[in-house]
Amino acid sequence: MADTAGLRARNTAFWTQAAPGWIRHADRQDELGSPLGAVAMARLSPRPGERVLDVGCGCGGTTAELAAAVGPTGAVLGVDLAESMVEAAAARFPADRHPGLRFTATDVETTGDLPGAPFDAAYSRMTLMLLADPVAGCANVRRALRAGGRLAATVFRDGQANPWLTLAVVGAAPHVAALPPLPVGDEPGPFAFADPARVRRILDTAGFDGITIEPHDVVMTAPGDPDTTAEWLIEIGPAGAAYRAAPAPQQAAARAATARLLDRFHGPGTGYRLPVGLWLITATAP
Ligand SMILES: C[S@@+](CC[C@H](N)C(=O)[O-])C[C@H]1O[C@@H](n2cnc3c(N)ncnc32)[C@H](O)[C@@H]1O
Repeated sequence: MADTAGLRARNTAFWTQAAPGWIRHADRQDELGSPLGAVAMARLSPRPGERVLDVGCGCGGTTAELAAAVGPTGAVLGVDLAESMVEAAAARFPADRHPGLRFTATDVETTGDLPGAPFDAAYSRMTLMLLADPVAGCANVRRALRAGGRLAATVFRDGQANPWLTLAVVGAAPHVAALPPLPVGDEPGPFAFADPARVRRILDTAGFDGITIEPHDVVMTAPGDPDTTAEWLIEIGPAGAAYRAAPAPQQAAARAATARLLDRFHGPGTGYRLPVGLWLITATAP
């Protein structure tokens, strides 16, 4: 296992390299990714006038959703490690058209005071399991909340509940250059929060109260053709940077191999139906 500093450096490099794929597919991600966070958004139930933090906001789609919920008297801050994603978020949702909505590039594990803190609530879609030091990151989120402030987040459960999730890497890897290191064990990655006992320990150590962790199953539908859907999944995953650097014939082979692996999730007339197993996490700051 790498040390925390090593994991953090790896995390920063990974998201810097992954960012162009997320930016390129930002609209698709907003549209297709909605089921991944809808249950946490409903549970958080942001109210007009509240101040809300979006942890790992990516290209800002959920941050804008939160801003719409809190309205002009509220304020929302989206934070993300990847500077280029934060720039893309600010360009997609400019402050003059979205009053009260701000983005800042920062590592939630090491950041000091966040602008706009203390917040009434924190939201996070599919990010907490990616933190190199999740206790440090969650403790900073808890410190940024007012007493009684609430957290609602989603993360993936295990690979069995998300059987499509690694297929783009398996499909693309033989056709592109070397991939970044893939996570093992508890290292940051999609399945690092698979064990709910570990999730509870992390949030407890980070100082949260009232922790709940519930399974929640959704289906992510992708109506696109096989080529488009394969490219989207390759580009937002660990093979994305190597794929973008590959010559066109290798890219086509990577897409074809990924599409073949995803075929079992494709139905005539329905497009892709990807089963997603989530943990819905809620907690409060004492
Ligand atoms: C899987 S993406 C999810 C993005 C967005 N929440 C969504 O659902 O579309 C995870 C995001 O977390 C960000 N991230 C990872 N580690 C982070 C950290 N330590 N601090 C802040 N952001 C981080 C990444 O840059 C990436 O944008």
